[in-house]
Amino acid sequence: MGGKYADICPDTVARLTAQAAARYRSAKEADKAVKTALHQITGAFMTPDELKRARKLLASAGDDPARALSETLALHSSTRERLPHIDAFYDALLGPIGARTLLDLACGLNPIYLGSRGFVVRGVDISGGCIALVNDWAAARGWDVSAECRDLLCDPHLPGADAALAMKLLPVLEQQEKGAAMRLLGRLPAPVIIVTFPMKTLGGRGVGMERHYSEWFEGESRGMFDILRREALFGELCYIVRRSGV
Ligand SMILES: C[S@@+](CC[C@H](N)C(=O)[O-])C[C@H]1O[C@@H](n2cnc3c(N)ncnc32)[C@H](O)[C@@H]1O
Repeated sequence: MGGKYADICPDTVARLTAQAAARYRSAKEADKAVKTALHQITGAFMTPDELKRARKLLASAGDDPARALSETLALHSSTRERLPHIDAFYDALLGPIGARTLLDLACGLNPIYLGSRGFVVRGVDISGGCIALVNDWAAARGWDVSAECRDLLCDPHLPGADAALAMKLLPVLEQQEKGAAMRLLGRLPAPVIIVTFPMKTLGGRGVGMERHYSEWFEGESRGMFDILRREALFGELCYIVRRSGV
């Protein structure tokens, strides 16, 4: 796929193209469906223009890295939402766990922040632009952080870590394939998993999302995970879970 979606993981484009071909007769309709899906699952969170601005910030980060870091994090919707309270948010979330190595699933720009806090991070995302940015920030700052452009629904390989992060990810996965979210959590090579959900839409509306996601996730987790902690932190519904019986 060219243009706006040229840097998306080829496995993702192939997966969505096959689904659309099975569903629509006309090539035009199928192409439109693939573009709509790509917007919903990745493009809506960071646009090509925001990626371009982020590249410029990295190129000029030498003058004032702290400012470049926070302006870069503001260019992906998920890190932008956390930015006003990002240190307090991560202190509260990660502090009690004591993890040093993190597997960040569908990481967006999160590893750029986590690297600046000294964590060892292995990230995965289907956005090639986000992945390149994460790796280039890490190389420029000498962090032990790396990310790969891979589709969590196609590629089973994941590195082990002290904790896995599935932040604002599960609804995006369920939208792509029913049942995929809990299947992924069930095979993570980490003793502890941090799962978060948005409590507002990208447009800023609160529409019963906390109740909806908590009922769904707590129901799905029964018998599979022990919930060690549940808390709404700065507008993000957060869980820390561990596989049951471990
Ligand atoms: C709501 S954002 C969350 C980003 C990050 N976890 C955070 O909370 O800051 C969802 C992310 O999932 C990624 N994504 C969507 N589907 C994916 C898939 N099948 N495999 C890997 N990443 C995916 C998108 O590119 C996007 O960066």
